[in-house]
Formats: sequence, C-alpha cells, structure tokens
Amino acid sequence: MKIFKLASLVVLPFVAIVAKDVRKPEVLFQQKCQMCHMDGLPKNKKIANKMVSPTMNYTIKNLVWGMDSEHDGISENELKKISVEFMKDYLYYPDRKKTNCEDISFDKFGVMPSLKGFIAEEEMDVLLPWVYDKFKPTKQKDGSWALKE
Ligand code: HEC
Repeated sequence: MKIFKLASLVVLPFVAIVAKDVRKPEVLFQQKCQMCHMDGLPKNKKIANKMVSPTMNYTIKNLVWGMDSEHDGISENELKKISVEFMKDYLYYPDRKKTNCEDISFDKFGVMPSLKGFIAEEEMDVLLPWVYDKFKPTKQKDGSWALKE
C-alpha cells in the first residue's frame, strides 16, 4: 500500500505534465509531424537528400492555393476553416485523388501514411489551426500565393 501511494505521488504529477504538454500545438507538431515534414526548404543538399515528405510551408501553400481556387471569392476565415477540415480528413484518409500536392511530390515521396491511431481527433483540433496559421502563404496582388519563409 505504501509503495502504491508513493508510486502514485511520483507518477501522477508526471502524467499531468505530459497530458498538459500534449495539448500544446507546438509539442504535437514536434511529436506527430516534424519527423517527416521539415518546416521550410532544406539548407543544403545533404539534408535535402534525407527528406521523406514535402516541407510544411510548401504543403500548406499548395493546400491553401488549391482550396482558394476551388472556392472563388472565399473569405479568409472560411479558407482557414475548409483547409483545416481538409487536413483533418486527409490525416486519417490520405488519398492521391484528394490531394493538392503536385505529381512530383508523389513520385518522390509516395502517399502520406494514415495517422489513424497515431494522432487523436482532439489533438488534431488543437494542432491543425496552429499549423495553418504558422505556415500559411500570403496572397499577392496578382492572385498568386507566396511561400511562407
Ligand atoms: C510518416 C511521414 C509523415 C508524417 C508523420 C506526416 N506526414 Fe504529412 N505527408 C507525408 C507525405 C509523404 C506527404 C506527401 C504526399 C501526400 O500528399 O500524400 C504528406 C502530405 C501532407 C499534406 C498535404 C495534403 C495534400 O493536399 O495533398 C498535409 C496537409 C500534411 N501532410 C500534413 C501533416 C500533418 C499536419 C502532420 C502531423 C500531424 C503530418 N502531415 C505528418 C508524410 C508524413
């Protein structure tokens, strides 16, 4: 009994810290995305050769661009909403037919594996709006989208 009490004293605060941390989008991003997606373009060829997926800024640029051109005149809020919804679906049910990525991405990296069982829906709700804000491109006057540096 004594040992159990001691164990719960040690373990419980630890669990509480981990659970709180997991709700932080930057921690989720590190744990669930960054092992595959680098933030931005690789600094040199050596790093580029190790890439297993398109960079996050590039991925989000293509996503936002795709969503924007499919929904003419859409507001910024709506654009964010449908982009986040797209990602939420794609992370569990990735499919080349749905994609906004270019063929070259698939030829090089293949289709993203489903993250079902690896990331919970509640975690996606915390993470995905943050990913969108952090990596979203800016719309230029000519209507094109500039990559987030
Ligand atoms: C095991 C490696 C891996 C992990 C982990 C991973 N991805 Fe991907 N992801 C890929 C690859 C490869 C592609 C490019 C092919 C594709 O679009 O399916 C991709 C594509 C994407 C796309 C583009 C969808 C489109 O329009 O085609 C988004 C958005 C994305 N990932 C978001 C995420 C987020 C957010 C996370 C973390 C929760 C994540 N990925 C974790 C490998 C990964």
